[in-house]
Amino acid sequence: MRELSLEELRQRRSIKWQLYGPDVLPLWVAELDVSLADCVTTVLEQAVARADTGYAAPFQLGRAFAGFAKRHWGWDVDPSWCVPVGDVMAGVAEALKVLTDPGDRVVICPPVYHPFFEVPPSIGRPVELVPLVDGALDLPAIDVALGAGARVVLLSSPHNPTGRVWTPEELDQLDLVVRRHDAVVLADEVHAPLTLPGATFTPYAPRRSVVLTSASKAFNLAGLKCALLVAGNEDVLPAVRRIPVEVSYKVGHLGALANEVALTDGDAWLADLVRHLDRMRGLVVDALGDRLTPPQASYLAWLRLDDERPAERLLREQRIALSEGADFGLTHHARLNFGTTTEVLTLALDRLLTTYPAERASPPLG
Ligand SMILES: Cc1ncc(COP(=O)(O)O)c(C=O)c1O
Repeated sequence: MRELSLEELRQRRSIKWQLYGPDVLPLWVAELDVSLADCVTTVLEQAVARADTGYAAPFQLGRAFAGFAKRHWGWDVDPSWCVPVGDVMAGVAEALKVLTDPGDRVVICPPVYHPFFEVPPSIGRPVELVPLVDGALDLPAIDVALGAGARVVLLSSPHNPTGRVWTPEELDQLDLVVRRHDAVVLADEVHAPLTLPGATFTPYAPRRSVVLTSASKAFNLAGLKCALLVAGNEDVLPAVRRIPVEVSYKVGHLGALANEVALTDGDAWLADLVRHLDRMRGLVVDALGDRLTPPQASYLAWLRLDDERPAERLLREQRIALSEGADFGLTHHARLNFGTTTEVLTLALDRLLTTYPAERASPPLG
């Protein structure tokens, strides 16, 4: 995988590279600093050459995802159980609208991706916090929350920001709890294609669920607006069938084209990316050792740092932009996006270590 230069990255117009000044190294929002897969570049260039920028026709998207899910995880997806949506969080909102009534509570497990706190309340479904305990789901507390009337568990799988890949046993236990209360899981699996060496991703389906997915995180397509909502099993199918067709009108045409080709022809590029991310994870773990539990998936490192708002301090003192832990529901932490180049990551880690020196003392020489 050719590494982009810092100069090339600084020319980008996306939010990651635009929000802060040119002296700041951005390691915050979940965008990747890599070039596109060739198959994606080709499909986008051809569309632009045809002036083909009308509305999306995402008819093959379900089939493309079904192929990907079968090859990577052995999951049999019925394309007719898939609904194209504009993005993952729009899919979460649409699923909640058909699965729950206004006022129904949604369990989330912080620290977690910050829009999980905001999207359910934005459509009248309050969130109920059941924090992770030592990085694991607190199943007894989820049981209590569902017993007291919460209707849905919104699960990040793999988990953003900790990078945990849930085991089949953990998912089975959650499924038992959820069925006991006739509730349902919304499984956000957008990071699953980026499971790193050492871990094996288990799809939540066919447990009782609606699954949200996209090629957007793995192939860096977030700005093109395309994701997929998938009925995880027959229990939720009637609700999924009630999602109005207009929902799919929010899909971006270029996003649908890019998702389809990435999910169909992108495996070799993705394998190369995962090798790169594994190397970048190694750099983070070597530099920061005791400050994190190494992530099992994706490109996010969840760091324990000795200030309430360490990202604020790092931006001020070192001109590196991380995501603030408090935004995910936990202070004294920051999330570092290592989906970048060796150059950017090395520079950023050096700066970070200036403010927060390694905790582990080197063994004395001799
Ligand atoms: C867990 C999780 N879900 C959803 C998203 C966003 O997806 P979208 O932009 O498609 O809503 C992200 C982005 O980082 C994420 O980490």
